[in-house]
Amino acid sequence: MNVLFCSGEAYPFSKTGGLADVAFSLPKALNQLGHNVKIITPLYQKIPSKPKDLLHIGQAMIHMGNFVIEADFYETVFQGVTFIFVKNESFFNREMLYGYEDDANRFTFFNFAIFEYIKLTGNYPDVIHTNDWQTGMIPFFLDTRYRQVNAQFARIKTLLSIHNLEKQGSYPIETEKLFGNKNFTYIHMNRVNFLKCGIMRAHAINTVSNNYKNEILTKFYGFSLDGPLKSRQSDLYGILNGLDQDLYNPKHNQFLYEDYDEFSQVEGKAKNKKHLLEFLKLDIKQDVPIIAFINRFASQKGIDLIMQSLETFLEEKKFYFIVIGSGDSLYEMFFSDMQKKYPTHVYFHQGFDYELSQKVYGGSDIFLLPSLFEPCGLNQMIAMRYGTLPIVRNTGGLKDTVRAYEPETNMGTGFSFENYDANELKTTIDQALDLYNHHKPVWNELIVQAMQVRHSIVKMARQYEELYILITNE
Ligand code: GLC
Repeated sequence: MNVLFCSGEAYPFSKTGGLADVAFSLPKALNQLGHNVKIITPLYQKIPSKPKDLLHIGQAMIHMGNFVIEADFYETVFQGVTFIFVKNESFFNREMLYGYEDDANRFTFFNFAIFEYIKLTGNYPDVIHTNDWQTGMIPFFLDTRYRQVNAQFARIKTLLSIHNLEKQGSYPIETEKLFGNKNFTYIHMNRVNFLKCGIMRAHAINTVSNNYKNEILTKFYGFSLDGPLKSRQSDLYGILNGLDQDLYNPKHNQFLYEDYDEFSQVEGKAKNKKHLLEFLKLDIKQDVPIIAFINRFASQKGIDLIMQSLETFLEEKKFYFIVIGSGDSLYEMFFSDMQKKYPTHVYFHQGFDYELSQKVYGGSDIFLLPSLFEPCGLNQMIAMRYGTLPIVRNTGGLKDTVRAYEPETNMGTGFSFENYDANELKTTIDQALDLYNHHKPVWNELIVQAMQVRHSIVKMARQYEELYILITNE
């Protein structure tokens, strides 16, 4: 199968969230199954524009509304996967990936440029795999502009994967002037809505866990798109993300102080913890648990609940709290205040740092992810692989990936609570602390169970393969 995988971000070149990870790991896994999947993504500022191995493959003029704008295409291969970059200095040579006033223009341009790349190279895919709002206009442009061009375009099928339903690419209705054709499928509440367009027009749609697939058909989780999603319910699938078992591996890891697996985790984690506490210059009490939070600072992630309950624990020095991330300044300020107030027990690293994150996953005991909503969530999977037990809210992909501890059977890979409520989070943290402090053998059993879970990337890739086959046979 020939697939063009279109994404607004892709690891290792650009990343704001989990989409970037999947945008690399999924094509890589599909290629290993024998498919030919290329990734196409914008060439942002952070990507050096002239490294030796970035090959210029051509140029095209993009017609959008009254504008004609130049797009250059570059190619590079990273770990066996081909990346195509769309370059336009004025649109993409900026500090951030998204969040500009002209995002509608930037991503309309990107969506059109993808077709021009296909035309230029004559490399017609069987499937164009789109992801999130950034590539949501593709099915529409295919239907209204490119299918007519030739038979190869006419037979292309499209898949839309939803990693984030909150961000929709919603712009003033005048944006439609850029499209060349008018149609109601991209209109939502009197605005142009890229994601809704993709939902209405792609041959199939999927989200990144089965549970979230069901949730988004409800008003609360649907972010006003539950109606359009319901209208496509028979073409809507849930495919759980996998975790790159090589990238996240405590057994072979250059950044850990000591490698370990489920058989050596007791000593392994203890050594990593000791070094981590020293390294971060925290108080060193080996029997006090470390709770970690590593994520984007967005309200989605349940940080409000953490803010409401954290201090009561810190006042009594019940655990160390390590935070890595950045985002909403409200949360950044909160975590840096906590660090100032409890310097022996709180460590806050602003921004993302892969190396430090590995040390923190390795040395911590508990991982927090009390999300309001969570399409899949990758970090709880990483935490489990490192034997760091997650505390999650029972929602979205968190529900599909974390088995909550059952006291009757001592089975479980973490802890969970139902309602978005700070008291419920607090009670669950207390439950985990009690087990950690007073029932170590059970705690260690849970670690082993968590470490044995494999969220296989091959399994994920096989399910996408099935979906590609399904839509190309239609
Ligand atoms: C988004 C979602 C997250 C998911 C990731 C990759 O970042 O918020 O839940 O794991 O996309 O699909």
